Amino acid sequence: MHLATLASLVALFSSFQLCVGYVAQSRLHDPRCTKTTVAVLGGGMAGVTAAQALSNASMNDFIIVEYRDTLGGRVWHTDFGQRPNGEPWVIEYGANWVQGLGSKHTENPVWSLAKKYQLENTFSNYDSILTYNETGYTDYSDLLDEYSAASERASERAGRILNNNIQDMTARSGLALAGWKPRRDDMAAQAVEWWNWDWEGAYTPETSSFVFGVASENLTFNQFGDKNNLVVDRRGYSAIIQGEANTFLRRNDTRLRLDTQITDIEHGPWGITVRNADGSCISAAYAICTFSLGVLQNDAVDFAPALPDWKQTAIAKFNMGTYTKIFLQFNETFWPNNTQFFLYADPTTRGYYPVFQSLSTEGFLPGSNIIFVTVVQDQAYRVERQSNEQTKAEVMQVLRAMFPHKTIPDPIAFTYPRWSTEPWAYGSYSNWPAGTSLEMHQNLRANVDRLWFAGEATSAPYFGFLHGAYYEGREAGRNVAALLRGECVSIYGVQTCGPRAHYEVLHGTTPSSAYTGSNGWPVNSTSVHA
Ligand SMILES: Cc1cc2nc3c(=O)[nH]c(=O)nc-3n(C[C@H](O)[C@H](O)[C@H](O)COP(=O)(O)OP(=O)(O)OC[C@H]3O[C@@H](n4cnc5c(N)ncnc54)[C@H](O)[C@@H]3O)c2cc1C
Ligand SMILES: *[C@@H]1O[C@H](CO)[C@@H](O)[C@H](O)[C@H]1NC(C)=O
Ligand SMILES: *[C@@H]1O[C@H](CO)[C@@H](O)[C@H](O)[C@H]1NC(C)=O
Ligand SMILES: *[C@@H]1O[C@H](CO)[C@@H](O)[C@H](O)[C@H]1NC(C)=O
Ligand SMILES: *[C@@H]1O[C@H](CO)[C@@H](O)[C@H](O)[C@H]1NC(C)=O
Ligand SMILES: *[C@@H]1O[C@H](CO)[C@@H](O)[C@H](O)[C@H]1NC(C)=O
Ligand SMILES: *[C@@H]1O[C@H](CO)[C@@H](O)[C@H](O)[C@H]1NC(C)=O
Ligand SMILES: *[C@@H]1O[C@H](CO)[C@@H](O)[C@H](O)[C@H]1NC(C)=O
Repeated sequence: MHLATLASLVALFSSFQLCVGYVAQSRLHDPRCTKTTVAVLGGGMAGVTAAQALSNASMNDFIIVEYRDTLGGRVWHTDFGQRPNGEPWVIEYGANWVQGLGSKHTENPVWSLAKKYQLENTFSNYDSILTYNETGYTDYSDLLDEYSAASERASERAGRILNNNIQDMTARSGLALAGWKPRRDDMAAQAVEWWNWDWEGAYTPETSSFVFGVASENLTFNQFGDKNNLVVDRRGYSAIIQGEANTFLRRNDTRLRLDTQITDIEHGPWGITVRNADGSCISAAYAICTFSLGVLQNDAVDFAPALPDWKQTAIAKFNMGTYTKIFLQFNETFWPNNTQFFLYADPTTRGYYPVFQSLSTEGFLPGSNIIFVTVVQDQAYRVERQSNEQTKAEVMQVLRAMFPHKTIPDPIAFTYPRWSTEPWAYGSYSNWPAGTSLEMHQNLRANVDRLWFAGEATSAPYFGFLHGAYYEGREAGRNVAALLRGECVSIYGVQTCGPRAHYEVLHGTTPSSAYTGSNGWPVNSTSVHA
């Protein structure tokens, strides 16, 4: 579809909704509500970056509304266990890596911030891995190479599908066509596949888009390089978000409302009114909603009027994954201290406590005797429903099977978050199911009148990543600032004016060329894929 057609479609829509909007007009004048120009809903990476973009555009009349008592959102750390001096260690419940640092073409903006704030971080070496099963150490590392070779072939096919505008398929199908066909009872192969696919996507190959699963890897790692650095900073990873907030917020700035749960969003061509659990409300000309896809999917916030069908369809279409890190501290490091990862193949259940990660190793939190294990999807839901005691017992049984020749003491500290039921997140990060298209995704990021959307999930190239949230927040902030001035703004080298396009009718596929330069899809795909 051409931009001109899109623009007229959008114009048609706004004029239609103008008529409906009069009903709600009076709400704008609710005298109890604080008035502001832009309400930024959520104080995670996207919200803070959106507010900074507004501030950079000299649009200083905004209010950030945040559920929690701190900024950062899904970049969330906690104190854990004890150092020898009695002080706690700091661990990350949420985002932990900077994924893709930078190449000669571009730098990951999160890496730029990590350098700016001198975040302590260490190269996470995915080749530093040992393999185990229920009998202890057993070397099935040849399967890692086998998967890599198949994955390379699969990636090329995914590229052909994307570039030729062919129907998407499941990652399971794509991997099989590339020759990776693990038997259901080959638990070592299942563990290797989990490590390569589920661990990043938080979903199985059956529930993931083949094309966009591969494209998302490519767009981040081909562009920024393939290094993943793990953040182990005492201030927490969120120090970069707090640090950037401090560049435009004063101390005790009334434009930041922490501890404020939004329950209702009234929206229309007249603007936005948000109502909060504490009875307060804010009326704004525009709002940028940065809630996670999980928050939107769980009806945690009520929209009035209900969001249009195309938007509800988009919200229902995409998946919200859960990625749960379970932390254990011991009084000693009984696992090999110079290895970063330990892959476990359970004899009966795929994804049962599959990847252990040592923090006790040099460069991380040496001497901490902390190790953590990650579960996703069904295993995450199961573990998040049960008690710490039950989970601890299961993990200990696995560790004792992996290291049968060691006498393993009980942990001295144990914790994990419950992402799937956390009321301000409802999950960890988004994933694209099979059969998605860029048009479907555009409907997730398109605005509904003056209500804009930004966040990890609205990024087409970088969904699931912290840098996705950064780019989306920045773009929404710039867009709204430009709208307020009645100007256009250059985004990814493309002049962007007014509201975002959405599609009333979806087609099964979208050529990626239709997106070059818009919706964040990188302008120069040659350099991205180089
Ligand atoms: C376990 C886990 C591991 C991850 N690992 C990595 C990683 O290693 N590398 C990486 O790049 N990315 C990782 N991510 C993804 C990354 O954390 C996210 O992409 C990013 O933080 C999302 O930012 P956001 O601003 O879009 O959303 P959020 O951070 O969710 O911000 C939205 C904000 O809205 C607030 N909010 C929600 N509901 C309401 C309400 N009703 N009223 C008021 N406020 C509300 C929330 O409290 C939150 O602060 C991980 C995420 C998780 C959970
Ligand atoms: C705002 O401007 C500062 C200073 O130039 C810059 O460092 C920052 O990246 C800008 N933020 C956004 C979101 O564009
Ligand atoms: C991913 O990158 C590989 C290697 O550069 C390329 O061959 C392939 O076409 C790309 N696939 C997609 C879907 O972007
Ligand atoms: C900010 O608020 C805190 C706590 O209410 C108060 O102690 C402090 O003096 C305030 N600082 C400024 C600069 O107003
Ligand atoms: C850790 O605790 C176990 C069980 O209490 C004990 O046997 C072991 O000696 C302790 N290890 C160290 C290094 O103190
Ligand atoms: C676990 O590894 C041992 C030793 O290599 C092997 O004998 C056993 O069959 C493996 N278990 C499974 C379920 O494959
Ligand atoms: C593990 O390595 C770290 C870093 O070199 C060191 O501080 C720690 O004492 C080691 N622990 C054991 C048990 O070897
Ligand atoms: C795209 O990137 C390639 C490789 O770096 C470069 O040769 C080419 O000039 C770039 N094209 C544009 C339009 O910037």
